[in-house]
Amino acid sequence: MIIKKLAFSGVQPTGNLHLGNYLGALKNFVSLQNEMDCIYCVVDLHAITVFQKPSELTNNVLETTASFLATGLKPEKSIIFNQSSVAGHTELAWILNCISRIGWLNRMTQFKDKAGSDKEKASVGLYIYPNLMAADILLYKATHVPVGADQKQHLELSRDIAQKFNKDFNCENFFPLPEPLIPKKVSRIMSLRDGAKKMSKSEESDYSRINLKDSADEIKKKIQKAKSDSEPIPDDSKILKQKPEALNLLTIYSEITKKSLAQITSEMAGKKYSYLKENLAEVLIEEITPVGKEIQKLLKDKSHLKNILENGTEKANIIAEENLKIIREKVGLI
Ligand code: TYM
Repeated sequence: MIIKKLAFSGVQPTGNLHLGNYLGALKNFVSLQNEMDCIYCVVDLHAITVFQKPSELTNNVLETTASFLATGLKPEKSIIFNQSSVAGHTELAWILNCISRIGWLNRMTQFKDKAGSDKEKASVGLYIYPNLMAADILLYKATHVPVGADQKQHLELSRDIAQKFNKDFNCENFFPLPEPLIPKKVSRIMSLRDGAKKMSKSEESDYSRINLKDSADEIKKKIQKAKSDSEPIPDDSKILKQKPEALNLLTIYSEITKKSLAQITSEMAGKKYSYLKENLAEVLIEEITPVGKEIQKLLKDKSHLKNILENGTEKANIIAEENLKIIREKVGLI
């Protein structure tokens, strides 16, 4: 049986998108548009697993949509829409809640990280969040899922759920097992302040990340203040691995300049980090500030952004309803 390739991915509208989202996910979203059908979703239902101020959430949905467009997603090529506008996501999520096992969810490390020490106080939504993610993907029978490394475990769970559904309802290959597409070099961009933590929207210090909307000055300051090392840049990759902040800066530089890490390290070996930082700030400003300017420009015309989401919803809904009809039959729902 030939299965048509289809990519699906989602981004939470929980504030500024940053360099980690850009290198780990969005750039991949854009290049996949030329390889297969793609569906990209602003996952507002995932966002509310942690309380969001309603007016901020609405704005953030539009801003995430603007960020999709500003990085190069084209509504003519990809379906771009908002998760809560397609009711099938929550219906399938419920069905999958009944397929997924408590033991599987108990292994999810992101829940443990996000719930913190007082798990009893976390929302039930946060706990079953990975089941909703599986529903997002399986609703469209997506075959490929471009994500950063932090989503790998959730993708494995989606595969387990798909497999159990196919087995329970005796329909081998009904749901394809979605394949994660995780970029090799930039799968986990780290915080600029702490090389042990990933760059994230939720980290308190804005100096820990480069936001897509940062000005040239902000990018320069953040890179200058980024944690590095007092020793000159080593040429030995084993030594570099022990210096996660330095490795992170070199990795970002290598990705933006499209040169290999080995080449960058040998070019920079023996130099001070201030030299790397100067060069890194320059290439980042060149790459990121046009994206930020485009986001600001797009945000001036909110009705245009809403139109794009509405058109995307219509297209997504057709696929979702077609698949759901069969899913309902398989489960025995009338
Ligand atoms: P979210 O909104 O946290 O992140 C969006 C995407 O950015 C990637 N990412 C990173 N990549 C590299 N380095 C980083 N520091 C970094 N931080 C974030 C994430 O891996 C992700 O690809 N649960 C998902 C959203 C989601 C989803 C889905 C994804 C909901 N349904 C279905 C794929 C398929 C999330 O919270 O991503």
